Amino acid sequence: MKKAKTHFVCSDCGAESVKWQGKCPGCGAWGTMQEEVETASVRLPDGRAASVPVRLQEVEMAPVQRFSSGSGEFDRVLGGGIIPGSLILVGGDPGIGKSTLLLQTAHRVADTGALVLYVTGEESPQQVRLRAERLGSLSDQLLVLAETDLDEIEKHVRARRPILLIIDSIQTVFRQGMPSAPGSAQQVRECTLRLLQIAKDLHIATGIIGHVTKDGTIAGPRLMEHMVDAVLYFEGDRHHRFRILRGVKNRFGSTHEIGVFDMQTVGLEDVVSPSELFLAERSIGAVGSVVVASMEGTRPVLAEVQALVTPTAFGTPRRMASGLDYNRVSLLMAVLEKRVGLHLQSQDAYVNVAGGMRIDEPAVDLGVALAIASSFRERPVPAGVVAVGEVGLTGEVRAVTRLDQRLQEAEKLGFTKMVAPLGNVKRLDAADSRRLEVVGVESLQEAIRIVLEG
Ligand code: TYD
Ligand code: MG
Repeated sequence: MKKAKTHFVCSDCGAESVKWQGKCPGCGAWGTMQEEVETASVRLPDGRAASVPVRLQEVEMAPVQRFSSGSGEFDRVLGGGIIPGSLILVGGDPGIGKSTLLLQTAHRVADTGALVLYVTGEESPQQVRLRAERLGSLSDQLLVLAETDLDEIEKHVRARRPILLIIDSIQTVFRQGMPSAPGSAQQVRECTLRLLQIAKDLHIATGIIGHVTKDGTIAGPRLMEHMVDAVLYFEGDRHHRFRILRGVKNRFGSTHEIGVFDMQTVGLEDVVSPSELFLAERSIGAVGSVVVASMEGTRPVLAEVQALVTPTAFGTPRRMASGLDYNRVSLLMAVLEKRVGLHLQSQDAYVNVAGGMRIDEPAVDLGVALAIASSFRERPVPAGVVAVGEVGLTGEVRAVTRLDQRLQEAEKLGFTKMVAPLGNVKRLDAADSRRLEVVGVESLQEAIRIVLEG
């Protein structure tokens, strides 16, 4: 690497010189010339820096130093750990487990000996302690602060310089001198901006909790999305144990990565093999049940799609999709009607992904269509079958990405047969030895024939 260029700048008047001088050539002051590393900006007379284009090759790369959140699943969603100075928004419905997740994280980071400040605006320090005890997380490097005035919070942050700051939640903090109430759009925006400045200025990673309510009455996460470095949504069914942390934006890693957790009485536990968990309660060989292989970020995840198709009692048929895109399900039903000839017009259809998982990848199309066909025809899909493929409007089965990874996961979990797009199967290495049989299909009709009539 080239040695960094330096020059000398007078700390009084800003005059520059290439060589060091005892006396400033500009104002004549003695001993004020200080060495500065030249950066790709030039000083304007008023002290503002103007940007100049630099060769991309010459842009210096500082290695990104991440630190672990203490949870493999959380780290995965973040792209490998927490980056100092980054702003991470964790959004989700009230009661889903945001405070639990970030308190656990705060504790685990503090346990490595680094100082962590947890600011609570919703619960009293006693309540936080109670929860921490339940989680077995009482590190001596973990500070808790019950405060909602952001200027006060900033004072403490500047004095203590924690490595990680948690704000629970953005809807409770406020900046003085603004007419609007905490939680209003203006306050949320202002507070986020301030937190952004503090984070970048002091290099403190900041985790911000934001509630999302279904009716959207509280201003919040949506508004902050473009300001922060990473946006993670914590989702799941409060009545289920499983929680999914989904990355929807990440400046320092890939998005659409998911982390899976199991909410237990002692906090959130990482789920290392989500496929096993999602398939745990599967009723093998049941009518209307199909296992699909979806890519969630860089990880293949198997899940069970269930469909129940019953004759409509009166009037217009009911359609319901949970964990899947409603419009996509409607489209697949239309394709089944028109291209395969299933008379679904007079049928109610309920389709869902078991276990509270949500999938929006087109590669599950084939599985969804097969589940509907299976229920309609009252024929089960044989146990051991996994379906992968996107379905087009003419009923063709289109290629998907990363079939090999999906295959590996299905094989690992003991599946014996995968129905996959012919376009993908043709490109597979025939030399690979597999315990799993891969059947390439070109159309939905063909897939139905193989799976339901075979
Ligand atoms: P919480 O983190 O308070 O949710 P949020 O901050 O998103 O509003 O989590 C609340 C729920 O989690 C509550 O219903 C109790 C449950 N919970 C557990 O099941 N186990 C635990 O160890 C903890 C701390 C909470
Ligand atoms: Mg909370």
